[in-house]
Amino acid sequence: MPNKSKPVGKLISFEGSEGSGKSTQIMRLAEHLQKLGREVIATREPGGTEIGEQIRNILIHNHRGDEMCPETELLLFTAARAQLVREVIAPALLRGAVVLSDRYLDSSTVYQGVARNLAPDPVNQINRFAVGNVMPHLTIVLDVPTEVSLQRIRQRASDLPDRMERENIEFYNKVREGYLLLARQWPERVVVMDGTQQPNALEEQIWGAVQLRLLDLQTA
Ligand code: TYD
Repeated sequence: MPNKSKPVGKLISFEGSEGSGKSTQIMRLAEHLQKLGREVIATREPGGTEIGEQIRNILIHNHRGDEMCPETELLLFTAARAQLVREVIAPALLRGAVVLSDRYLDSSTVYQGVARNLAPDPVNQINRFAVGNVMPHLTIVLDVPTEVSLQRIRQRASDLPDRMERENIEFYNKVREGYLLLARQWPERVVVMDGTQQPNALEEQIWGAVQLRLLDLQTA
């Protein structure tokens, strides 16, 4: 009898600054993958677990959190991620699912490391400790110029901007540069795409890259 083996789980993370269009593209990629018969799990950071949502509240929505020091911020983001990995992502990968993560450890490298100026070595160590060996197989960075990103934040903000969104243009310039640097450091894993193109064109580009780089997705 042919041995129909279980599909291999894959983790694909989406990165980019605010307003880069990650959530739309995650939904569209999920549909492509589901048509192949794959189980798809979409997660978001920070959050995605009960503990993670509580941490998210402190990090994002707590307006008194303006004076949070960068070290605390790093530890809280990575704590939420540690929980998400063990509670949701690792079990899903074991089942053979494709996990689409709206942000993952690169957000900490870029926002806390590069933009908040924390030293890279401890950030990398804490990041690695939090995720264990669960690294993304592919990371898609949606790159948009800072002005476009800030404009999109303003357009979608129905109420007050959240704690991270109140940062200034210099901060977001560093975020953008941080992602571009990361892509140069990890060309095997990190792909940068132009987030200003039409959503349909971007969807095709992402689907192409996923098929090309994660070939065994097809064999499920
Ligand atoms: P969110 O409302 O989820 O925004 P977005 O749609 O842009 O993902 O807020 C997440 C915010 O937290 C965003 O400003 C990026 C920031 N962040 C970090 O600074 N470090 C991290 O490790 C993560 C996961 C997010």
